[in-house]
Amino acid sequence: MVETLVLPVQASAPESEAIARAAAVLQAGGLVAFPTETVYGLGANALDAQAASSIFRAKDRPVYDPLIVHLADGEDLPIAAAQVSAVARELAACFWPGPLTLVLPRAPRIPTEVTSGGETVAVRVPAHPVAQALIRAAGVPVAAPSANRFGRISPTRAEHVLADLAGRVDVILDGGPTPVGVESTVLSLVMPVPTILRPGGISREALVAILGEVRVLEPITPETETAPAPGMALQHYAPRAPLTLFRGEPAAMLAALRDAAQAYLDAGERVGLLLADEDGATFRDLPVTVQCAGPSADVTRVAQQLFASLRALDRAGVSIILARDFGAAGLGLAIRDRLTRAAAGDVVRVA
Ligand code: TXA
Ligand code: MG
Repeated sequence: MVETLVLPVQASAPESEAIARAAAVLQAGGLVAFPTETVYGLGANALDAQAASSIFRAKDRPVYDPLIVHLADGEDLPIAAAQVSAVARELAACFWPGPLTLVLPRAPRIPTEVTSGGETVAVRVPAHPVAQALIRAAGVPVAAPSANRFGRISPTRAEHVLADLAGRVDVILDGGPTPVGVESTVLSLVMPVPTILRPGGISREALVAILGEVRVLEPITPETETAPAPGMALQHYAPRAPLTLFRGEPAAMLAALRDAAQAYLDAGERVGLLLADEDGATFRDLPVTVQCAGPSADVTRVAQQLFASLRALDRAGVSIILARDFGAAGLGLAIRDRLTRAAAGDVVRVA
């Protein structure tokens, strides 16, 4: 156990004293949680094998799930990646700094502790001013997974980090809520066709516009024996209460969700609902806990609120969560992916 120091910073213009203090912790091999535009990361010096290993212990993360290396600038890519293809350069120019992670061949300087023994490395350049300032001040690439306990929901606020990692991280830079709210898109460039391993902050449509052909890998189902890539296990990013996801045409989807809520209430369950803003009124007559994550027409807003809404349902002590789907357009695909994983495959498709 360590004493966790929380340092408030201004998100748009972080104070240099706080940044210098956190950077010194990274240089000394310690752990710093910091906001990125997607979610909070749990950072360590990516060139220090021991520091990187301590991330896995702090999170209770299995060592086979590799870390993302964060750089301040796309120019630094050769520090992390052995080969930088023309496609990688083009994507970097279009989307960095920003919520896109590229999987590339690993450069020798990146310890295999970071890549879980693999010969590929995941790299991104975060856009958040606090992340930018921290990486620059530390002067090293920063390995950082999301700053949650393994299997839990990614943190979008410093209080979420504290709830999961108090006593396990040296410093938390509190820069307020993160603007995107879901993790980066992980795109593999080491497969024959560029492949989305995890939908996220950069939409599939935006990648297709640049690349033409893009595959999307589905998370593995419990029956699938081996994962095609790390991080593809279906149950991940889960609230404590079991969650069921409802998909389909909105009116029918909400009707099915309502019937299920009534049935769980009749069985004595404490029911939590994850809905769109406009659905709230329809469910007002039921004794349920409702979290509205934003208007369904604005998936960018829903993505921002999603994880805080799920954590709020957990804190309210519900015994079952029923969530609606928000479509697959734009950030809707990332929202669907996270809810599908949270549901561990328990998805009701309404015709
Ligand atoms: O937005 C984000 O990506 C946040 C912020 C902090 O940058 N980070 C994040 O890291 O979500 P993490 O570790 O929670 O998720 C990284 C994902 C995991 O699913 C991991 O399996 C995958 O990226 N990944 C990492 N290295 C990989 C590699 N070499 N090949 C394939 N997948 C990799
Ligand atoms: Mg994570």
